[in-house]
Amino acid sequence: MMKDAIRVLIDEEEVDARINMVAQEINKDYYGKTLHLICVLKGGAFFMCELAKRITIPLSMDFMYVSSYGSGTVSSGNVKIKKDLDEPIEGKNVLIVEDIIDSGRTLKSLCGILRGRNPESLEVCTLLDKPDRRIVDVDVKYSCFNIPDEFVVGYGLDYDQKYRNLPYIGVVEI
Ligand code: IMP
Ligand code: MG
Repeated sequence: MMKDAIRVLIDEEEVDARINMVAQEINKDYYGKTLHLICVLKGGAFFMCELAKRITIPLSMDFMYVSSYGSGTVSSGNVKIKKDLDEPIEGKNVLIVEDIIDSGRTLKSLCGILRGRNPESLEVCTLLDKPDRRIVDVDVKYSCFNIPDEFVVGYGLDYDQKYRNLPYIGVVEI
């Protein structure tokens, strides 16, 4: 197998420092409340763990796995639930934890589904955002980094299921 060349875009120290900052914001914003984190699998898993370790308010977590209809790298407006949440979210302060927001379609569709389950509040926290690629408007409360329109891997993000375990954000050089 050919080894891909990966260029570091955001190194581990920088990612960890920024997650610290965002966690502190969340601790402040939700002070006195209980937070329910929803990890969007698989990409959100690494970020959610790091974020959750730094949150000091009462916390619960659940996991969801959605996939877009249609093929390849383009996601359609509808998502298919491959693994649903284990618990109801009615009355909870829900924070969706995402790896990256690209077109915004996956997230918009997911938000619609979750809003229909009557949470007390519903917000989004993403590790990465590619604002140049946005097609549908989504309201993102916490974003760690805006990045240029490049395909990135690491910290949960994959290229063909590879590189999720890299402790930094990198660009696969093609
Ligand atoms: P959206 O519906 O177009 O916003 O798609 C978001 C999803 O596409 C993310 O949850 C990722 O799974 C995937 N994705 C988008 N950009 C990248 C990237 O640069 N690297 C890895 N996965 C990506
Ligand atoms: Mg993916």
